[in-house]
Amino acid sequence: MINIRLSVDAAKSFVSSTQINAFQGKVSDAQKALIEKTAAGNEFLGWVDLPSSIEDSFLDDIVAQAKTIAQKAEVYVIIGIGGSYLGARAVIEALQHHFSLMMPGKYPKIIYAGQNISEDYLSDLMEILDKKDYAVSVISKSGTTTEPALAFRLIKNHLEKKYGKAEAANRIIAITDKKRGALKILADKEGYKTYVVPDNVGGRYSVLTPVGLLPIAVAGYDIKKLVAGAREMEAFLKSNTEIETNSAMLYAATRNALYKEGKTIEIMVNYEPRLYFLSEWWKQLYGESEGKEGKGIFPAAVSNTTDLHSMGQYIQDGKRSLFETVLSIENSRKTLAIPNDKENLDGLNYLCNKSITEVNQGAEEATRQAHTDGDVPNLRISIPEINEENLGQLLYFYEFACGLSGYTLGINPFDQPGVEAYKRNMFTILGKPGY
Ligand code: PA5
Repeated sequence: MINIRLSVDAAKSFVSSTQINAFQGKVSDAQKALIEKTAAGNEFLGWVDLPSSIEDSFLDDIVAQAKTIAQKAEVYVIIGIGGSYLGARAVIEALQHHFSLMMPGKYPKIIYAGQNISEDYLSDLMEILDKKDYAVSVISKSGTTTEPALAFRLIKNHLEKKYGKAEAANRIIAITDKKRGALKILADKEGYKTYVVPDNVGGRYSVLTPVGLLPIAVAGYDIKKLVAGAREMEAFLKSNTEIETNSAMLYAATRNALYKEGKTIEIMVNYEPRLYFLSEWWKQLYGESEGKEGKGIFPAAVSNTTDLHSMGQYIQDGKRSLFETVLSIENSRKTLAIPNDKENLDGLNYLCNKSITEVNQGAEEATRQAHTDGDVPNLRISIPEINEENLGQLLYFYEFACGLSGYTLGINPFDQPGVEAYKRNMFTILGKPGY
């Protein structure tokens, strides 16, 4: 069953149904191009059929590997950057206890490295790893990215000193290209267990490969349900051909209609702190896919109600180039009653017959009204609750819609030529041989 609903009603006073439906031809062509793999970037369209093509035996192997890691490690370090880490973190943080590092549990604590070049961060990490029993996955499709390579050099050295070379090798899993790259060469030489990032799946579309699946399984979450959700969404989005029935087409068409009207910034809004990294993943997916050739909607994100006390002013009143897409969760995972207070000095007793989720939803509805009154079109993606199946649906929905939207915009959503510029400069500045 498809659990994700998209409503664009609160955008209709800014772009009419006619303006949205005018994109039917373009999104239909885009859908066909994704499925038949006929347009620009088609060498990176492996993700389109990924959910339906993953073998259950492959998932069993990943689950077994995750158990082996859990038996030997209290801490599991995920080394990777961008598409090689954000998908895993988005899912893990959406599902785990908010204070997981302080909670007892049978699964390893997940920590992250290789997303920055901070000496302080890496030094603090080494201090923690001195005290913990740990294992590591190093994830890099190219095998040459500076941030994860640097973190891995330090951690490999630390592991070998702590456990000896042979046991260190048992505690390292490399997820990388089948044949190429420095990481592949190193993994073969040292005998690390390896998983392959398929050639035809780019980093930001790789969450349903071992890049995302192994870390998610190590954290104790059900990757079979995650993939099952993605499979349902794959079948749904491939078989529905109209904007009216296909939510990814509706999302892609509405975004493009708003963009045409000068709405050049999209803010992904959540009201659950556990969704922070899902927004980060979404920002990368859409930013790196669409921002090229001087075009593209700039993807931003806020976490409410926190950011209503900071960014709320700009969204309500600043330059009118924004629209919002709210990821709305209908039911919380837990319940907590608001206690009555005899003195009621804070004046909150009026809330005592409501759940905290109802208060949060009241804030969400009030904000939607205020922002649309302030000329900010509002799209709403709702899911009944946060669980593996719904996250699987959501991940695939966003990916498919991104492909549709990028093709509709007239760019190749599957390359990222712009990310090389700073790297060349950095290598020259730091004196890398050959630069
Ligand atoms: O989506 C992308 O292609 C990028 O974000 C990459 O995932 C990121 O740069 C990391 O690259 P790699 O996996 O080669 O280390």
